[in-house]
Order: sequence, then C-alpha cells, then structure tokens
Amino acid sequence: MCGIVAYIGDQPAAPFLIEGLKTLEYRGYDSAGLAVLGAKGTTAVRSVGRIRDLEAALPKRLAGKVGIGHTRWATHGPATEANAHPHRSEDGRISVVHNGIIDNSGMLRDRLTDAGVTLASDTDTEVIAHLVARSTADTLEAAVLDALGQISGTYALAVMDEAHPDRIVLARNGSPLIIGVGEKETLVASDAAALVRHTSQVIHLDDGELATVTAGGFHTFDRNAEATGRQPVEIEVAAAEWELTGHQHYMYKEMLEQPDKAAAVIRGRLDERFATARLNGLNLSPKELRAFRRVKILGCGSAYYVGQIGAQLIEDLARIPADAEAASEFRYRNPIIEPETLYVVVSQSGETADTAFAVSEIKRKGGTVVAVVNAVGSTIAREVHGGIYLHAGPEIAVASTKALTNMAIAFAMLALHMGRLRDLSVADGERILHALKRIPEQIQQVLDNEPAIAEVAKALAQAQNAFYIGRVRQYPVAREGAQKLKEISYVHAEAYPTSELKHGPLALIDESMITVAIVPDDDLTERNVGAVQQVLARGGQVVALSHESVDLQGLDVERIDVPKSEPELDPILMVIPTQLLAYHAALTLGYDIDKPRNLAKSVTVE
Ligand code: F6R
Repeated sequence: MCGIVAYIGDQPAAPFLIEGLKTLEYRGYDSAGLAVLGAKGTTAVRSVGRIRDLEAALPKRLAGKVGIGHTRWATHGPATEANAHPHRSEDGRISVVHNGIIDNSGMLRDRLTDAGVTLASDTDTEVIAHLVARSTADTLEAAVLDALGQISGTYALAVMDEAHPDRIVLARNGSPLIIGVGEKETLVASDAAALVRHTSQVIHLDDGELATVTAGGFHTFDRNAEATGRQPVEIEVAAAEWELTGHQHYMYKEMLEQPDKAAAVIRGRLDERFATARLNGLNLSPKELRAFRRVKILGCGSAYYVGQIGAQLIEDLARIPADAEAASEFRYRNPIIEPETLYVVVSQSGETADTAFAVSEIKRKGGTVVAVVNAVGSTIAREVHGGIYLHAGPEIAVASTKALTNMAIAFAMLALHMGRLRDLSVADGERILHALKRIPEQIQQVLDNEPAIAEVAKALAQAQNAFYIGRVRQYPVAREGAQKLKEISYVHAEAYPTSELKHGPLALIDESMITVAIVPDDDLTERNVGAVQQVLARGGQVVALSHESVDLQGLDVERIDVPKSEPELDPILMVIPTQLLAYHAALTLGYDIDKPRNLAKSVTVE
C-alpha cells in the first residue's frame, strides 16, 4: 500500500526521504512526492511514476532539515501529479502525507468548497490539510486533533507546518506508523524497513495515538491530549535483510532463501521427546487448546490459500473440524463468533486491513484469536492473544513466496501440537516431526531443479489461459499456483479441484489451454492420472507436478517431480515449483516482477 516517511534533525531531510521512499516503494508505486521545510519555506515536489522519477525532478539544492514524503498506490482519484502527496493547504503552510482512507471525505470536500476553499485534487487526503489550516487552535497538535475530530476513517499521517518548523505531528488510526529515534534526528516511516539503516530504536504508534517529533526526540499522546509515555523498543532485523544482494529480483532472492527460512521457523520448536511442536507463543495452555471444538482460519489472497492448507492439516492431524475463509469476506457477513472456536489469522505483513478488522471483530465478540504472522510488532501481531512468528525475514516482492512457505510449516506445527494434545499417536507425531525436519533440504532440491522448471515456464509464458488443478490437500496449492502466475505474468489462470473439471471447466480445454495438474503419490493418484488423460484427450497441454514414484503411464506431459514428504506435508513442497513457474514465465515475458501492475504489498485499506 502507500508508504510514508518523515525526517526532522540536523541533516538535510531530502536524502533520507528519497532513500526511505525507495525502500518503501514496494508498498505503492504509481506516484510519489515530498515536501521539505527550509529557511525560505516549503519546497514540495511530486511526480507520477517511480521514486527515481521523483528524485530526478528534485531541485539541486534542497537544504531543509524537516520533511515528509509519500509513495502512493491510488485509491481515491487516478495516479496524477495533482493527486500525489503531500497535499497542502491553499496558502501552502500545511503539508500532509497520509495512508488510509477518509470515509467522510465527500461530505468534508463539499463543506470546504461551500466555505470557499478551492480543492486541488481528487483525493480524500487533501481535506486534512485544509482542516488543519482552518483550525483556530494555537498549537499544531491541537489543530491536528481538531481536524481528526471531523474525519472518520483510517489513517497514518504526518503533518508539517511552516508556522511550527521545529516539529512534525503524527497520528495513527488503522494504518501503521513507526518513529525511529536517532542521534540528533527523529525519523518516521510506515514500515520499519525504511528505518533500520539509521536506528534500531523504534516506537510503533497505537491506533488512536498521536506524536510530536522534533530533532531532539518525541512525545506521544492520545486523542484527549494526555501523554501516553511510550518508550522506544529495539528492532532486531539486520539492515542487510532488505538488500537485493546481487539478485535481479527480490522475488528470486526470497525464493532462494526458503531453505534457510524454513529451517528458521522450525528451529527450537520441535520436541523429539514428546513427538510434538512447542509453540509457547500461542499463550494457550494444553487445557485451553483441548477445549476448542473448531478452528477457523482467516487470511487474504495467498495467505488465505495457505490457510486452507492449514485447515486440512489441522483436520488431518488434530481431528478438529477446521476451515479457512477469506478475511475480506468474513468481516462483512456478521459471522457467528463461538467461544469454542479457535480463530487463527494468517498474514505476512500483519497489516492487511481486512485481516486486522477480522481480529477486532472476533475480539469484540469474545472469541479467542491467535496469529500466524511474519512482521514482528505489526498491528495484527500486537492485537492478538498469541501466535506463531514466521521468522521469514522481510519480504519485499509483492508476490509472496518465503512467507507463504513458512505459514504452511507453521500450520503443520500447530496441527502437530494440537494433535498431540488430542489423539495423534506418538508414532504419527514422530512421522510428522521427522518429515518437517527434512522440509528445508527438500525445498532446496526443488530449487535445484530450476533449469528444468524454467524451460517448462517458457510454454506457460506463451499461453493465453491456464488451469491449475489439484485435489483435496493439493487444491489450495493449485489456487496459489494460479494466483502467482496471474499476479506477475498476467497470464489468465484459474484453479479448480481436479474432481470438478468434468462438471464444467473441461469445456474450455483445447490445444491452446495449458493445465498444470498436481498429481502426487497418494490414494488419489489413479483418479488424478485419469483427469490428466481426459485433458490430453481433448487436445490440451499438461504440466504435471508429481512425485518420482508416480507412474504417469507414458502420457505426453511436461513432468516436474518434487521430493516426497508425508502426504499431509506434501502441499508445502508442491507450492515451490509453482513459484518458479510463475517467476520464469514473467521473466520470459520481461515484466517488472517485483512490482506487478495494479498491486501493492500489504493492503492496508479495505
Ligand atoms: C500474493 C500476495 C497476496 C497476499 C495478501 C495477504 O502473492 O502476496 O495475495 O498474500 O494480500 O497479505 P498478508 O499476508 O500481508 O496479509
């Protein structure tokens, strides 16, 4: 989604703002802008396109030591220079950058227009600048509070005022905002990624919280102007984790990191003695975990698909009814929240608005909600009762890979943990535990097969349409495979349960359709091979993701074998070749893989 940065200190602000915006560019990349406050007032520059375009448009000398910046992913109004942030009051005194959505901006725009204000953009954000400027309060803090009293919606915002050049005022409600405390400088960003090169001391603002930042420090307060007395905490991620380290794309780097990151999520969590997983972060006692009668998993997009893998694992190993649902739908259907259901939300960023909303709705109605989440200290991580951190490190590519793999592994550990508290035998516990330990090296084996997978991807790149089919445990893998392909290569891809093919989609099979069929070695192999035969009989082309032990009966298919795990864990490994297929298809087509069109990392608006 959009990204915010701000700087106040003893150095020129522009270099940090540009560097920070480049780091946050993965959150939004249709336009950008910054405003710097110097001795001669505010200099604001905005441009459509990437941060490098903004950088090229900056004046040579930009010496001000106070500044705010923004990278945008359009929500209200198209990506134009006029709609890019910062937005400013008519006299230019107030400059604002904002993430989120102001729900009542239509009404406020009308009211401002009636009062004689000329609006310069189509955005919801602009109203904030005018409301702050029109406040009669004598401090910037009070003027911002005045403005916030008139708006409803979500926001992370930074406000700069020529009349108060010694400060920037921040406010957060539903969109992340982090203060970084440096020496003689205070930095602000919507994502810690932009701060880690400068400081490890940060404050994550809470919803409803505001802050004043100055060159010498910060002061946090609430909507009643009462001090909240927040203290900085240490963030642990090394700055190098955000570097591309010689790779062409973050997505590629992140795929290659998977063996190490898979080892990291497992590390210290497998208990050989009791053939279980130790998940102390859940904050749930064995007694509490035994009392749940259902598990409901909620996530969005690919995280939702992994949630489906997780639900199957929980049913398989813990024998508790479990299902996954898109958090984006859950929030709108007045769901029944049951005390005997364990709710598990799953999110890489920990900031996805739909998923965060599901958390608050469950909590409001008295449900127990834990999270499977990657970003430490993120909104969701802080809101839930407990959870499992993924230790996948920062994920920059919009198309998620390593975080999804670790989500699936985390669900396997949750299922093992819950299973061993119920009726999973020691023998089955050991079977899963040992298979989990082999997963990192088996992921490496799939990655080692990259040249062959890249060849197959060339055919996918030429296709207009593709089907991904899989059955039961592998159906979510098919969904994720199709999602990856369409996200980054823009090839139209749909996923179906293999069993559903004959109930309709088969009508679309012809020579131009490629079907990626998941054919694992399990009790449904014969049926899956039968489905492949049906596709071939209608002239379709088939890529089979399979196990070496499967007899594909000499069928004319492109075959990619992955190492065999236990049947319950096979989906984790099956996802890996689908990533490589999508990546190499997009590479063949020459697309901007890390920044696919119309998408943004971390969807912090509805
Ligand atoms: C797909 C992808 C998205 C995310 C979804 C949820 O590659 O990245 O579908 O999975 O937007 O994001 P998080 O996991 O941050 O909640």
